[in-house]
Amino acid sequence: LVAALSPRPLAGRRLLITAGPTFEAIDPVRGITNLSSGKMGFAIARAAREAGAEVTLVAGPVHLDTPRGVRRIDVRSALQMLEAVMPLADEHDVFVATAAVADWRPASLSAHKIKKDGKKIAPTFELSENPDILAAVSARSRERGAPYCVGFAAESEQLERHAREKLLRKRVPLIIGNLGPATFGRDDNSLLLVDAQGATPLPVDGQATDKLTLARLLMADLADRLAS
Ligand code: CTP
Ligand code: CA
Repeated sequence: LVAALSPRPLAGRRLLITAGPTFEAIDPVRGITNLSSGKMGFAIARAAREAGAEVTLVAGPVHLDTPRGVRRIDVRSALQMLEAVMPLADEHDVFVATAAVADWRPASLSAHKIKKDGKKIAPTFELSENPDILAAVSARSRERGAPYCVGFAAESEQLERHAREKLLRKRVPLIIGNLGPATFGRDDNSLLLVDAQGATPLPVDGQATDKLTLARLLMADLADRLAS
């Protein structure tokens, strides 16, 4: 009954969400990745669906169940994530980039497992920068007027300053900041919503709360932003 009476403020909206880490292969058995659990992105996908949105979730390698009613596309590397996201961006009203995309990938992929082979010197790896998926969707959005782009910023210090720098650099209307790595893989968190007007904590009292509650608050806030 409660669910039936509750408003679905994102009904008719289509959300595209990236979540989780990416994995950048060095050879067939090794790679570079990071500690993102994907929990925040999956919570947002669930909350958006509950709020009535059509949701597509592009996920890096994570150990999480797909939220009910959500279309999920699994990818591994940043390049694969970009390839999955770009054609989908045009069919969505909102893009929420929660993925912790690896900033660099090994410049070349070894076809076979790199062996020690009695070598005395450890190998070194040249890295190439990965494309910025959020900035690419944001550029596309400026041409077309959609999707509305939301970025995340996990920082270890000076949260508002770094979040604002990303807002300007990626030219998106909203960056959601959180302080890590204390929050990585944890179930509770608190956020700072940074836009052109200023910065607002979420929840408003700044108390850490579970990621699903945060995601629901965030989707209510997003619905307001889209309506205005
Ligand atoms: N992002 C992305 N593609 C990348 C890097 C980041 O889409 N190659 C997105 C993330 O999903 C997030 C936002 O950009 O929404 C900010 O990511 P972050 O790693 O904090 O920013 P960077 O620009 O990579 O800066 P740095 O890691 O140096 O702080
Ligand atoms: Ca980064």
